[in-house]
Amino acid sequence: MASNIREKHVAVFAFPFASHPSSQLKLARRLASAAPTVVFSFFNTAKSNRALFAELSCDNILPYDVSDGLPNNDVFVGSPLDAINLYLPGAEEELRRAVRVAEKDTGLKITCLVVHAFFWFAADMAEEMNIPWVAYWSAGTCSLAAHFYTDLIRQKTGSKGPDDEITDLIPGLKVVRLGDLPSEVVFGDLQSPFAIMLHKMGRNLSRASAVPVNCFQELDPDLAKNLSSKLNNFLHIGPSNLISKEKTPLKVDEFSCISWLDNQKTRAVAYICFGSAFTPPPRELVELAQALEETKTTFLWAIRKDSNKHFPEGFLERVSANGMGKVVPWAPQEEVLNHVAIGVFVTHSGWNSVAESIAAGVPMICRPILGDQHLNAWMIERVWGIGLRIEGGIFTKHAARRALEQLLSSSKGPAERIESLKHLAHKAVAPSGTSTQNFKSLVEVVISGSA
Ligand SMILES: *[C@@H]1O[C@H](CO)[C@@H](O)[C@H](O)[C@H]1NC(C)=O
Ligand SMILES: *[C@@H]1O[C@H](CO)[C@@H](O)[C@H](O)[C@H]1NC(C)=O
Repeated sequence: MASNIREKHVAVFAFPFASHPSSQLKLARRLASAAPTVVFSFFNTAKSNRALFAELSCDNILPYDVSDGLPNNDVFVGSPLDAINLYLPGAEEELRRAVRVAEKDTGLKITCLVVHAFFWFAADMAEEMNIPWVAYWSAGTCSLAAHFYTDLIRQKTGSKGPDDEITDLIPGLKVVRLGDLPSEVVFGDLQSPFAIMLHKMGRNLSRASAVPVNCFQELDPDLAKNLSSKLNNFLHIGPSNLISKEKTPLKVDEFSCISWLDNQKTRAVAYICFGSAFTPPPRELVELAQALEETKTTFLWAIRKDSNKHFPEGFLERVSANGMGKVVPWAPQEEVLNHVAIGVFVTHSGWNSVAESIAAGVPMICRPILGDQHLNAWMIERVWGIGLRIEGGIFTKHAARRALEQLLSSSKGPAERIESLKHLAHKAVAPSGTSTQNFKSLVEVVISGSA
């Protein structure tokens, strides 16, 4: 029998929380269309796979389900971080089991692991299988550097506190406030499964055959230069939101955000959204709402419906009656950010939001909540100069007022700087751009199948 043309088999391990699976499926689709004869098996929890693959399917990507760590049919109650800590202890065994199933189904041995960098144990698996380990970092270069240099950072930190600003703590980053590092690096619960995983990832990352990141190298040239000297094929291939433009069925704008924006005369509308997983505490929502009313800022606010009850009395009625604001449960974020009416993005500074804001050239007001968000906010304010971290880190009426006034009227600096970053981002993903070239190198590693 002629040998099957589909002889390469790539395993993609999704980190099944927040927006990670969809960002990894984007990467898988991009690879799958660059290497149409390769079979991709996509390992993810059943619930997440159902949602992802209901929207679209792709010929050479096969979904495989792995357990979320809950006993059968149990419904999870707890925080998102609890869910992660429940999933992690069994993850390696589950993924190994599912890989055997996929190999049996397809009749093809796995020839490359393209996994979320979090799954550091894939380094051991790839070594056993004698295939490349591609460790994908779906966030910014800055947070990856913090995890890669965790041991060095812990050595240098000594007895310093969260408010201390330290120079040359991370190679390629002139100064950083200690409290803005991801909490798993110095101050949080360093023994949680999540923190341990990140630490092991940092220690093992140099074993990867390639480390692609969802960022463009012109954004942080110094960090990129340093990590390139430490990692194999450290490849900036993003921002992915500017790439996967093949028309996937866009969620319709069911709450008419765009037509509402079309009708705004101002170009200083604030778009507010803290992502899908977390919301600031009720007291802060009140303070922000009051600041919006007092500054007469026109705004579009995307927030889960169950949060509406926390708004000040009469707020929703007033802003809808006087046309100052629109509150919706969901907004088509990229289209909103690219609308001319938008003047500022009030965000939790999660990486996808930051990348989308840069790609659209919209300055940010940051209210970071967890993970890499604090470090992203530091970069936004202090390194890139394209926005502000809310003073004191939480919304008070006073701090929110100041931030809105500063970004919407007085200071043109952040808007100009983000416009030039926007330009660099678009250039990076153009046909001859750095991210496009780096992606070609990544495809070579993935299809070479040799470690
Ligand atoms: C990978 O991580 C493990 C667990 O932290 C560690 O023992 C090992 O030394 C690391 N490997 C390398 C090459 O650093
Ligand atoms: C990157 O930083 C490390 C740690 O400080 C240093 O040893 C190394 O020389 C740096 N590499 C480059 C190319 O600057």
